[in-house]
Amino acid sequence: MDRKYLYIQTFGCQMNVNDSEKIVALLAQDGYEATDDAGRADLIVVNTCSIREKAAQKAYSQLGRFRLLKERNPDLILAMGGCLAQERGKTAMGRIPFLDIVFGTHQIHRLPGLIRQVAASHAPMVETGFESPVKSLEIAAAPPNGSVSAYVTVMQGCNNYCSYCVVPLLRGPEVSRAMSAITAEVERLAGSGIREVTLLGQNVNSYGLSGSGGAQFPHLLRTIGRIRGIERIRFTTSHPKDLSDDLIRCFADVEALCEHIHLPVQSGSNDILKWMNRGYSREHYLERVERLRTVCPEISVTSDVIVGFPGESDRDFEATLDLMRKVRFDNLFSFKYSEREGTAAVALDRRIPERVKQERLQCLQKLQEQHTLERNSAFEGRTEAVLVEGVSRNSERDMSGRTRSNRIVNFRGGDDLVGKTIPVRIMKAYLHSLRGDVQKERNRCSSK
Ligand code: 5AD
Ligand code: SF4
Repeated sequence: MDRKYLYIQTFGCQMNVNDSEKIVALLAQDGYEATDDAGRADLIVVNTCSIREKAAQKAYSQLGRFRLLKERNPDLILAMGGCLAQERGKTAMGRIPFLDIVFGTHQIHRLPGLIRQVAASHAPMVETGFESPVKSLEIAAAPPNGSVSAYVTVMQGCNNYCSYCVVPLLRGPEVSRAMSAITAEVERLAGSGIREVTLLGQNVNSYGLSGSGGAQFPHLLRTIGRIRGIERIRFTTSHPKDLSDDLIRCFADVEALCEHIHLPVQSGSNDILKWMNRGYSREHYLERVERLRTVCPEISVTSDVIVGFPGESDRDFEATLDLMRKVRFDNLFSFKYSEREGTAAVALDRRIPERVKQERLQCLQKLQEQHTLERNSAFEGRTEAVLVEGVSRNSERDMSGRTRSNRIVNFRGGDDLVGKTIPVRIMKAYLHSLRGDVQKERNRCSSK
């Protein structure tokens, strides 16, 4: 088999990252080797995101930049996958005329065949149908060499239809994988040196509503919690309306389950939550957080918020700030509302001017910075169990790892520590990371 080079670029969420890892593994079987150099590639895949307009624009402008390479090498194949490909289908070819392949979110398994067809005929191909069963879900991903942590997609799609969100339109209805397939994948990962798995799904806590043979998410967590070699389990993303007491109990019962939950609230105003079709109230959200903290006092809670949803008044926005002050999130991702074609919110009037969205975003981010720093500072002086991931992004002389609460910790140490869980005393807290000193093994950790 000739050696060929694949350059893959990924936009968007963890599921897209995991899909790209599947694409790399699948194409390796056809002789493609991944490269960081687009200039030497025989095949370029851009895995796109469409959650907000800005993400869509970024993906298109990146695709546009490959024109020169296509002109230089007419045999170069350019493929577009992911959510924007699903959304735009054939029309993407109008926007990027030198595109060879557009493949949708259910069509990853067809990519090798599409590539062969394009190589033979030079005719562009578009595949964006939804399928049942979703074969793409079962492709084994290849985490990058030397990874300590891996993603495992357990379900895909969403039936919630939040009024602002394109995901149900682009990933299709909820489909869960069989528990036996997931546990086999996690066992294989554990055997290859992976110590931490993050279970992925658009709405991961409704795992089991279709296609898993009746098993529900807490049962899946408890089962994975017994797999030898897996020290840490995380999952994302959870919906507040589906956060059951049984799932909350897992934070106390399943030792490997890390003390962190990402629980997007989106707004602190009951009126806006209703217009968003979120299916819960601010009171319900606050009660769930209280319950989480009762069962697991150490838990970190992070969230997503959208500002400037149609009709959001100053009072509604105040209610979001008020909820933030009550919860004191460990971290928060905030976004300006972006209108997406095909979603119910398009029909709502009382749009919020860009200037107001920007002001609200800045105000919210300022408040969150205070909370993040306050929460991070509470770790100063504690000794934390840190799973070492590799060399720090900040400095080549430092190593980097994570606490169970998902905080990045930088410290002096050798690369022989990669993959080990070691006690690190936290000396200084920053907004985006902690700094610490490695302790002798006999010093006990404050956390598990
Ligand atoms: N505009 C702005 N933010 C959005 N999100 C989803 N759809 C939109 C939109 N149309 C945000 C939500 C979600 C996160 C992944 O992206 O906060 O939780
Ligand atoms: Fe989008 Fe709502 Fe589904 Fe999350 S739960 S993917 S925000 S529709």
